[in-house]
Amino acid sequence: MSVSNANPPSVPASDVLPFSPCRSSVRIRSSVEEDVPAMLDIYSHHIQRGLGPFDIEPPHPEELKRRRKAMLKRRLPHLVADLGGQVVGYAFAGPFRKRPAYRYTAEHSIYVHKDHLGHGIGRLLLPALIDACTTAGCRQMIAVVDSANGPSLRLHESFGFVQAGVLRSVGFKFGRWTDSVFLQRALGAADREPPHDHRAAQPLAE
Ligand SMILES: CC(C)(COP(=O)(O)OP(=O)(O)OC[C@H]1O[C@@H](n2cnc3c(N)ncnc32)[C@H](O)[C@@H]1OP(=O)(O)O)[C@@H](O)C(=O)NCCC(=O)NCCS
Repeated sequence: MSVSNANPPSVPASDVLPFSPCRSSVRIRSSVEEDVPAMLDIYSHHIQRGLGPFDIEPPHPEELKRRRKAMLKRRLPHLVADLGGQVVGYAFAGPFRKRPAYRYTAEHSIYVHKDHLGHGIGRLLLPALIDACTTAGCRQMIAVVDSANGPSLRLHESFGFVQAGVLRSVGFKFGRWTDSVFLQRALGAADREPPHDHRAAQPLAE
């Protein structure tokens, strides 16, 4: 899978990633079902400590398998960052909303293993996901990010996402109300051309 170089960091990678094991040895590939336990491990950590996930409890592995299959059924990308056989991050896109008129708009999530945060994995996963969503025929990508999640806001903005609005106090986590920031990025021809029809036969909402 190719990794877009559209937004390279403005300083040398060695300055940005001082503790990286070797970012060039990270391979971005499509996930397989066997990756689910590693993805669940990553996700569970962030559920318990972070502002990223909107789940409160770690899902059952079968539930994560089901979610993955649902994305693939919609022909949307589900990627992992693989460092020598270890899954150190993952990213996937799902429908922004379930009704069919939204089928050209994807909402995505991205999670990096706690031991590899800040080592450039997000910078590999996000452009790969953008490319894969474009190839899948999506015209817009949406990220819904907790307003206190500075790393995610900065990562997205550095890849061309712009803030489209803030929903106040729509979440409740760690004993407080949370705001959600919507970030949007146009893909490919965006709204300059009508869509190709290859997403037309998408399954309807489950
Ligand atoms: C958000 C997340 C995916 C970023 O992945 P990462 O591999 O740690 O990020 P990278 O090392 O590739 O850094 C990419 C950019 O993110 C931002 N960033 C990353 N870590 C940061 C931090 N601790 N503080 C501020 N900005 C940070 C920076 O803009 C950085 O680019 P720069 O180094 O050129 O300034 C990761 O922090 C994560 O998994 N967080 C928990 C889950 C989560 O919040 N997911 C997003 C849900 S929308």
